Amino acid sequence: MIGILLAGGHGTRLRPITNSISKQLLPIYDKPMIYYPLSLLMAAKVREFQIITTPLQEALFKDLLRDGSQWGISIQFVTQAEPTGIPEAFLLTRKKIVGKRTILSLGDNLFYGSQMGKKINDNSGTEGSHIYGYQVNDISSFGSMTIQNNKIVNLEEKPKRSDSGYAIPGLYHFDENVTEFCEELKPSARGELEIVDLLRKYQEIGKLDYSILDRGTAWLDTGTHEDMFAASELVRVIQTRQGMLVGSPEEVAYRNGWITPDQLEELAAGMTVSPYYKSILNLLKD
Ligand code: TTP
Repeated sequence: MIGILLAGGHGTRLRPITNSISKQLLPIYDKPMIYYPLSLLMAAKVREFQIITTPLQEALFKDLLRDGSQWGISIQFVTQAEPTGIPEAFLLTRKKIVGKRTILSLGDNLFYGSQMGKKINDNSGTEGSHIYGYQVNDISSFGSMTIQNNKIVNLEEKPKRSDSGYAIPGLYHFDENVTEFCEELKPSARGELEIVDLLRKYQEIGKLDYSILDRGTAWLDTGTHEDMFAASELVRVIQTRQGMLVGSPEEVAYRNGWITPDQLEELAAGMTVSPYYKSILNLLKD
């Protein structure tokens, strides 16, 4: 199983903050945005990652995440010259993912909920593709799916009708045929390869499965100033109230047994003036 994190893009809606720095390196409360999807996939027991960045920002991501060995995982970086669509991730990584299943997460999506990692892990063996549905108040800015008799009967990008079913969060499972399907895609009117078109390919052959994320799950897309602020507030409230970290790769690595207590201590050494690393050290007292 390979995890792909999509961390390119222009981040136009967040300008001027994103004039010189990638959106996914910006903070959501006390840690960089990319930590959240990364640690979620780690909680789903994914250990091999391909991270897509812009050519200009690749060095910054490498500086932050290194090769992943400090967290018991492996990370490779791939650059995308222009943000020409989510499915392009599979074309850019095609040699690395041959014969393997993948889970792709958008680098600006944040999930929080009980047993989320386990749920994702449980779905990672399904044949074909597996996606998630999430009830939202206003579906007009998301990809959507309509369900009838437990089947996906319609997929739509940014639907105009408000009764278009569930929003599709940026977390998708694919089998080893995904690259083949991506090669058949044609750019849409906005010049991008569309994720909805890729999902339609799986739907056409009856291999698009789904599960609905229940009301106990938070899903936030952090692409606007308001969303970033809301996500930061959510993380702040949970962490302050419970005294537990949300979205920490160090914690997940430690709980998965991928790093030892000594290694965890080493990661926080000398940095406990930061409350984040203080919380990391507190894990050793559990
Ligand atoms: P978007 O939020 O659709 O695009 P963006 O990040 O460039 O922001 P804006 O719309 O404000 O210009 O992208 C969703 C996520 O997917 C985000 O994490 C960036 C990433 N992405 C890529 O890495 N490459 C791509 O080709 C596309 C379309 C998105």
